[in-house]
Amino acid sequence: MRGQYRQQLLARSYLKLLRDSLCNLHYPRQDSSPVSAAELAQAQTTLETVRERFADHPQAQVRHLLRQITPQLAVEWFRRNSWQAYTLLDEAGLDNIQRCTSQILETNVAGDLIECGVWRGGSCIFMRGLLRAFGDGRRQVWVADSFQGLPEPDPQVSPLDAISHEFLRVIGGLRCSLEEVTENFRRFDLLDRRVRFLPGWFQDSLPAAPIEKLALIRLDADYYESTRQALEALYPRLSSGGFVIVDDYGSAGLGARRAVDDFRRQQSIRGTLRGVNENIAYWEKE
Ligand SMILES: C[S@@+](CC[C@H](N)C(=O)[O-])C[C@H]1O[C@@H](n2cnc3c(N)ncnc32)[C@H](O)[C@@H]1O
Repeated sequence: MRGQYRQQLLARSYLKLLRDSLCNLHYPRQDSSPVSAAELAQAQTTLETVRERFADHPQAQVRHLLRQITPQLAVEWFRRNSWQAYTLLDEAGLDNIQRCTSQILETNVAGDLIECGVWRGGSCIFMRGLLRAFGDGRRQVWVADSFQGLPEPDPQVSPLDAISHEFLRVIGGLRCSLEEVTENFRRFDLLDRRVRFLPGWFQDSLPAAPIEKLALIRLDADYYESTRQALEALYPRLSSGGFVIVDDYGSAGLGARRAVDDFRRQQSIRGTLRGVNENIAYWEKE
């Protein structure tokens, strides 16, 4: 009994250390410095380009978004998305992965874990760490990404994504190579046979992926089409009692929310959508 308690304590300490390292909480945030004139000028230029391209857009939501963005807000957004960490998730986001994974293991829901849209790989590294800490010796962690950043969105399908893309371009489109992500797993001593990479655009890589069953699908691909493609390819393989986590459900400026709403409506999915923080929502498959 004492040995089991000690084991649990060690697992909890390991996971806390892993989470804090992945979020880079051990070092002071670099972006607390005042916004510089150069940063503001860059944001202003991008904003002007976007406003010119989407001026008089027929959708009120698009015109509203364009009125709301200021150069100051854009700089904050640039900084948030180029922060020196292994994941863009905050503690609540990682905690949500931990809770879902614990429930999956406790209730024996069949299947692997996948994230679609991984950037530097931080949340997949955490998934692999969770399986190790909880002593799971079977499941795989699938790591799906283009490893060349976000795709160019079709402005006809989602003008919000096309606007977002212009800003993302400034910080390199969240591009991170397969070699970098592999190296990140290695740094945490979590690169092994149970980590499976799926490089390529979702529309090509996911339908043919050799995945039989999933217990957790984490979607973090921002855009309407990417989110839609991932849901269509993977939802049929999700076990009952498994989870779908959607990272960008709360982001007013991205198409992910509409993709999820369309898909749930068309598939008559009734599982309650629960919020995690202002961005993330998830549901359990019935
Ligand atoms: C916001 S980042 C992911 C952040 C990451 N989950 C984390 O924990 O920090 C979005 C990622 O989605 C990927 N992506 C978006 N659409 C894609 C698509 N259609 N096919 C492949 N990768 C895609 C991009 O390459 C990028 O790495």
